[in-house]
Amino acid sequence: MAEREATLGQLIDTLITSEQATERFYMGLVELFLHEPIAAEVWWDMAAGEASHIWLVEKAREAVMAAGLWDEPVDAALLDQARRLASFSPERLWARIQNLEDAYQAAHEVEGMEFDALLEPIMIDVFPGDIRNRLARSQLDSHQDPLKRLKTTEWRRSIEARIPEEVTMAISKEKIK
Ligand SMILES: [Fe+2]
Repeated sequence: MAEREATLGQLIDTLITSEQATERFYMGLVELFLHEPIAAEVWWDMAAGEASHIWLVEKAREAVMAAGLWDEPVDAALLDQARRLASFSPERLWARIQNLEDAYQAAHEVEGMEFDALLEPIMIDVFPGDIRNRLARSQLDSHQDPLKRLKTTEWRRSIEARIPEEVTMAISKEKIK
């Protein structure tokens, strides 16, 4: 079946979609915590990390196209996993967030979804032994560091989310779907 033919190009495009959703998730958290400078800055840094992941995948995309590897077959299970991740909905997570502790837990949940675990093998495959590969890995390793600045649990619980209208609208649109 054509549907089962998984290619490197499909995998890369799917990964871009999921990294974009993750970036949007963190940008939404910036809005929710604009009134708390430390929190807003942490969410901004997390979003910037996702933006750099998108950039990394785009570089991989260019390299794969240039090398004529776009239709190279990949493990179908890998593409299925990437598709499940790409269906991730920031709206659904935002809807559950009432305070900074909820956001912090949601961020850990998102980071545990392994978008980046998929990114690493792609970078290694596409740029074996390349400086880009090492840079990508060091970026991925430090990506979750900003979360450490959100101390402590008590403090996080004391910071309420303020839901701006755009986010409320996005959440209710998602509920209607
Ligand atoms: Fe990412």
